[in-house]
Amino acid sequence: KEIKDQFIIDAGQKHFGATICKSCGMIYTASNPEDELQHVQYHQRFLEGIKYSGWKKERVVAEFWDGKIVLVLPHDPNYAIRKVEDVQELVDNELGFHQVTPKCPNKIKTFLFISDEKKVVGCLIAEPIKQAFRVLSEPIRPESSSSKESHRAWQCSNVPQPAVCGISRIWVFRLKRRKRIARRLVDTLRNCFMFGCFLSTDEIAFSDPTPDGKLFATKYCNT
Ligand code: ACO
Repeated sequence: KEIKDQFIIDAGQKHFGATICKSCGMIYTASNPEDELQHVQYHQRFLEGIKYSGWKKERVVAEFWDGKIVLVLPHDPNYAIRKVEDVQELVDNELGFHQVTPKCPNKIKTFLFISDEKKVVGCLIAEPIKQAFRVLSEPIRPESSSSKESHRAWQCSNVPQPAVCGISRIWVFRLKRRKRIARRLVDTLRNCFMFGCFLSTDEIAFSDPTPDGKLFATKYCNT
């Protein structure tokens, strides 16, 4: 298989090679004008998207030493819905997800993790489901598909398992990962999804998980 490498010339530039922006988390080549332009455009859009200035009526469902989780429901005021849409757009772009119309838009629950710096640094979108299919093993790697696609093609059981809650998106800001934000979002979801009961890990399912999502879900659910 042919491997195409990208070379960069070290001409004594101030920044050389891959750089990670400390505010937006984008990895780009600082010496490459095209990359720099893409970064500037992304940076503005991203920081605007995750900015959270606080709402008069917010549904705080969990509080922590480093932030809080706010729940947004479909009939909440426009400003809350708009924020959820903005965050979802950023998340979908990062994940390469297509806009999927949910089966029951009225039953969607969105949990936003708000950091102490007033930024949305985590997002979980959940909906009611009736059944799920267990991921069985390593990804299928059909010869014809690109490596990116094949990472997403997990082999699933064709035996449906009863389930209650489907997680259609879970995302944590790149610079805040591995701080248990995703874990706290799922714990809070399990506590708040159905009034009066704490869902077991068998009752929740992650839809079409990415490699990161699968690693997290495997650890979280002990499977
Ligand atoms: N690699 C290996 N193990 C991992 C990873 C990883 N990338 N991420 C989480 N885990 C495991 C670890 O055991 C971790 O505990 P540890 O840090 O003590 O070892 C445990 O899961 C808990 O992790 P959290 O810190 O709670 O997870 P985090 O806040 O970093 O968020 C997430 C995980 C949401 C998958 C994040 O990496 C992310 O946003 N990735 C990009 C978006 C994405 O792919 N989302 C999943 C899409 S699938 C879907 O939406 C249904």
